[in-house]
Amino acid sequence: MTDSLTTELLNFIRRLTTAAATASLYQLQHKQVEHLCQLANEHLNQIFSERAEFTLMLIEDRLIFDEQPLEDDFSVTKLSKFMHQQGIAHLTIKQGINNIELLQLIKLLSKKVADGLKIEATEHLRVGQVQIQNSEDGLPEELLQEGPTLEEISAEEIDRFHEIYESVQAGQQVNVRGLNEIVGNFVQAFSDQSSSLLTLAPLRNLDEYTYTHSTNVCILNIAQAKMLGIDGQLLYEIGIAAMLHDIGKLFVPEEILKKDGALDDREWALIQQHPQMGAEYLVNTPGIPRLAVVTAYEHHLRYNNSGYPKVAKNWPQHLCSQMTTISDFFDALRTHRSYRAGMDFDKIASIMLEESGTTLHPQLTRNFLNSIRQLDQQQTA
Ligand SMILES: [Fe+2]
Ligand SMILES: [Fe+2]
Repeated sequence: MTDSLTTELLNFIRRLTTAAATASLYQLQHKQVEHLCQLANEHLNQIFSERAEFTLMLIEDRLIFDEQPLEDDFSVTKLSKFMHQQGIAHLTIKQGINNIELLQLIKLLSKKVADGLKIEATEHLRVGQVQIQNSEDGLPEELLQEGPTLEEISAEEIDRFHEIYESVQAGQQVNVRGLNEIVGNFVQAFSDQSSSLLTLAPLRNLDEYTYTHSTNVCILNIAQAKMLGIDGQLLYEIGIAAMLHDIGKLFVPEEILKKDGALDDREWALIQQHPQMGAEYLVNTPGIPRLAVVTAYEHHLRYNNSGYPKVAKNWPQHLCSQMTTISDFFDALRTHRSYRAGMDFDKIASIMLEESGTTLHPQLTRNFLNSIRQLDQQQTA
């Protein structure tokens, strides 16, 4: 992020939060609100001279921009508070946003209490409001019944994913189009149907571990991301990144991957190379999102930056990698492997909580467990 971009972003945030505070004191039509809105838009235009859109994400009360937390200053803290109050997990603003759209955002932020006000996504503004679906109430009947279930989709997708893996193994390039379709179908299945379908993912137990595992991690990542209010292209890329996180395992001899007993030093060293090999492979594959490369590289890093590959202590891990680590961790414990029976949810939850703060990102872990727990209860109810 360039210095001028940061300055403009901070200026934008300052105008936006002052406008929202003014609107909550007076009213949205107040002249000063209009003036501040205009000024905010001018700062946006400066930002858009460098990029066509940007996203601000709220994680653990920190505002994340370009994968990094913004330095806390008065306005940044204020915006995090406003977003938190309204259950806004992320904001995406695109080039071309007009004052009417911006005023909508100011209106939302200016509410002192979250009152369920939803703003529709407009052409240049997307607001991800966290909405945890506790039950199927309120969903139109036909959405609950129509269309293939996630399980049906995934059986077919696993076959297709299998083909993609095989072609990579045979030295061909990954079929990016095929992969896009698979993830597109998962994303679609999530938006078309009740979130209770999520429970199918960790419960399924198929033979082809790597393929199933990648599909599970993909579904769990999409679930986590949706819970954070992420949608659109980023959601899609988080799904793609999950599907490909272990692709480097294709370059590790199968007998090592499938070995039942303990690995010797040489074998362990080979396994530990799979993140790096996966990232190297993906970075040379046209059409693969950068996020997939980063995630392949970072998915065995722990929250405290230990793990592998070896990185500097202050290495900034991408949130998508940290979500993938959580999905990966969960799926490994939940799925039956030849050497260990799958564990029940409470056991997994207690292990994950023990690891939170050292291996796993604490806030993401809590969100993940809460959502899975709710869904689990629904399913057994
Ligand atoms: Fe891995
Ligand atoms: Fe994995």
